[in-house]
Amino acid sequence: MKPIHYILYICAVVGLAACDSGDIQEKVYTVDEKGKTVKVTARLSNLSEWEGTGYTLAVAGFTADSKFALLQRALPSSAEDGTPVSIVLSNISNEVQTVEVALTNSLRKRIISLATINMSEHAEKSARDTIRLDLGTVDAGHFGVLQTAIFNRACIQCHGGNGRSAAGLNLTEGNARANLVDVPSTRQEGMLRVESGNVERSLLHLILNEGGEHLLTHNHTEILSSQFKTNLEEVNYLIDSWIERLTP
Ligand code: HEC
Repeated sequence: MKPIHYILYICAVVGLAACDSGDIQEKVYTVDEKGKTVKVTARLSNLSEWEGTGYTLAVAGFTADSKFALLQRALPSSAEDGTPVSIVLSNISNEVQTVEVALTNSLRKRIISLATINMSEHAEKSARDTIRLDLGTVDAGHFGVLQTAIFNRACIQCHGGNGRSAAGLNLTEGNARANLVDVPSTRQEGMLRVESGNVERSLLHLILNEGGEHLLTHNHTEILSSQFKTNLEEVNYLIDSWIERLTP
């Protein structure tokens, strides 16, 4: 094969993301040379909701001291809902501390993470080994990301199912939406937990943001900020933009 064909061939094999910018030849060289590989498999649905928003759900590698992904590969939004997909991120250098399934913005800034691999736990692996992560079935749409990355992590210990829901609010998978959207608050008379299309009048927004510390007995602003220390603003924005897009 002529060298140029060879390069294109490698691009096809490792995926276009490795060749989409910069010096093609140099990137191909590092793919061959070293760097770890992560393979994420999942059955995704609703991923297309992010199209045209500037956000990307991606497998992304982050160093310890930056919110911006050093490298990332988008999950394939063209895949049909529920079909298994696999995404391979290769060429992961040692400075990458975590590989995450994360929502990133157009600057590759981490908005929120759905799953995290600590690369230090795989330090002994050689470049030839592939680190695998199976996410199972994931709703990758806007609400699905809130469910997986926020409610499952920070809320369901108190707002669980089986009659253990604080304030009768069940935030577990499959129940959260119906328990929130246009449902009257049991604590603040005349308010809805979430008022479709109206962020400022939604109790959910108020209790999670500055100034809402005393609306409930439990300080929910603190509950959220203790879980999302570095990306609190992004998390709140993600919740607010979901409320805003609901149609009454
Ligand atoms: C430590 C337990 C705990 C955690 C964690 C928790 N909550 Fe709560 N939540 C409560 C309790 C208790 C109440 C009701 C009583 C109160 O605090 O006034 C409540 C009330 C609420 C209400 C008001 C319900 C109504 O009917 O008015 C909302 C909305 C809410 N929580 C959302 C959340 C969200 C979203 C999270 C995760 C970010 C969360 N909570 C995490 C304990 C918790």
